Amino acid sequence: MNSNAGHGHHDAHAHSRTHLHGSPAAGAGTEFDWDVMGPMLEQEAELNSGPYGEAARWIAALPTAPKVRRVLDIGSGPGVVTCLLAEIFPEAEVVAVDPTPALLARTRGRARRLGLSDRVRTLEAELPQDAARLGEADLIWAGNSLHHMGDQRAALAGFAALLRPGGTVALLEGGLPTRRLPRDLGVGRPGLEARLDAAAAARFDRMRTELPDARRETEDWSALIAAVGLTPQGTRSFLLDLPAPLSAPARDHVITKLTREYEVFGELLDAEDRAVLERLLDPEDPEGVHHRSDVYLLTARTVHLGRRA
Ligand SMILES: C[S@@+](CC[C@H](N)C(=O)[O-])C[C@H]1O[C@@H](n2cnc3c(N)ncnc32)[C@H](O)[C@@H]1O
Repeated sequence: MNSNAGHGHHDAHAHSRTHLHGSPAAGAGTEFDWDVMGPMLEQEAELNSGPYGEAARWIAALPTAPKVRRVLDIGSGPGVVTCLLAEIFPEAEVVAVDPTPALLARTRGRARRLGLSDRVRTLEAELPQDAARLGEADLIWAGNSLHHMGDQRAALAGFAALLRPGGTVALLEGGLPTRRLPRDLGVGRPGLEARLDAAAAARFDRMRTELPDARRETEDWSALIAAVGLTPQGTRSFLLDLPAPLSAPARDHVITKLTREYEVFGELLDAEDRAVLERLLDPEDPEGVHHRSDVYLLTARTVHLGRRA
C-alpha cells in the first residue's frame, strides 16, 4: 500500500499487468473497491513483511508487554499481517476483523496454507459501530485502517475499551511516501513522483472528508492515544528498502500501484505528466517501468503504541 504523501499505505486496486483500464478519473468517488484490491493489498503486505515483522517483534519485546493471548487485527485486509502476528505471538488467538468478506476469505486461505487455522479467526465487522462484537484483546493492531474511519477519535476510544489491563494498541499511520522512481527519469519534467505524492495527498484528503461521520483530527497520534485514556508507549518507523534492480514481484507491485494511481488521480496531473506516466506503464516502451533498471522501492511505516494501565 504507498504513494500518498505521509499516509503510509495506499490504496490501489489490483490490476493484471499493465493495461490502463479507462481514463484517469479524479472526479469519481473516493470509496474503495476493497474486494478487487485484494491481490494488490496482499502483494504489498508481503513485500512489507520485513518491516511489519520487526514492528510486531518490537511490541513482543517491550518490558511492559503482558502475555498476549488474544490479538485483534482491525482492518486486516488480506490477512498477511494477521498470519504474521499469529507467528510472532505463538500463544495467541488472532482475529482478523474486516468488513470485506472476500478479504476475510483470503485470510482463511492463507492461514490454512501456513498451518495457522487453529489460531487465526475471521470476523466480518465494521468499526466503530461493531466494536462491541469484537471481544477483549491484549493487542489491537490497526494497520492503515483507522484513517478509513470518519471519527478517528471515537473509533480509537472504542479500541481502547476492548483492551485488557496492560494491553497495547498499535496504530500504523503515516510514515514516508514511497519512492520508486529516480527524480530525473530522462523523460518528461523531473520530479514526477513528488507531483504524484501531491495528487495522492489531495485525494486522501477528499476521501477523508467524504467518510461517514467525517471529523477533522490533528494527526498527532500519541496525543490522540492519550486523549482516549491510554498511555503512549513510543513511536518507531520501520524501513522497507528494496534497491534497484527490483525482483519480479516487487517490480510487478510498482506497476500495479502506478497503474492504480494513474486511474484514480491521474486527472490531477498535467497533460505532460500523464503522458509520461502512460509511457512508464507501457510494456512496449523501453523507458517504461517494465524494462528500467533504476526502479526501486523505499518507504517507511510508522507505528504508534498506547498501553492500557
Ligand atoms: C489499506 S487496507 C490495510 C490492510 C491491512 N491492515 C494491511 O496492512 O495489509 C485497509 C483495510 O481496512 C478495512 N476497513 C476500511 N474501513 C473499515 C472500517 N470502518 N472498519 C474496519 N475495517 C475497515 C478495509 O476493508 C481494508 O481491508
